[in-house]
Amino acid sequence: MPDLKPVLSQEEIETTVSDLAQQISHDYKDREVILVGVLKGAFVFLADLIRHLTIPVKIDFIRLASYGCNTSSCGTVCLTKEIEIDIGGKDVLVVEDIVDTGLSIKFLIEHLKTLKVRSVRVCALIDKHERRQSDIAVDYVGRVIEKGFLVGYGLDYAEGYRHLPAVYDLQF
Ligand code: IMP
Ligand code: MG
Repeated sequence: MPDLKPVLSQEEIETTVSDLAQQISHDYKDREVILVGVLKGAFVFLADLIRHLTIPVKIDFIRLASYGCNTSSCGTVCLTKEIEIDIGGKDVLVVEDIVDTGLSIKFLIEHLKTLKVRSVRVCALIDKHERRQSDIAVDYVGRVIEKGFLVGYGLDYAEGYRHLPAVYDLQF
């Protein structure tokens, strides 16, 4: 079994999520925002984030897959589950667990633009710079983490570890 090196504790996650929710609640006050969680990884983060918001929101999910990859995206991203709410003309905030190469988010932003959204921004719990390959900007960043392969709090390795309440670096 690989070792797990602690990266973010439950307390650090709680503070980070609450701070993000405060900024989002402030910025989207008096606007109708639709949060789009990226499955599967973002489901834990999204569930906590919405309970700290002080504005009404609607929630939907989208699912992306990147193919032929092991522990990072490698260029071929595709949509495996579409959004179900009509988001045309709406302000959309994409909620991601982690942005690594940025290829998934880049693909998703382009896709949402074809659905004629009014605006699209990105909120990620973790912004990992190690392998960034696209010039996308993450609008709401929880924590910047330089490198490593992270698991827990929704993040998986081969579908395992998602249930852990904190974030760890998986030491292969
Ligand atoms: P990107 O397209 O390389 O930015 O990666 C996006 C997706 O890859 C994320 O939404 C995660 O699902 C997965 N991913 C990237 N880095 C990690 C990691 O360190 N741990 C677990 N999943 C990761
Ligand atoms: Mg993901």
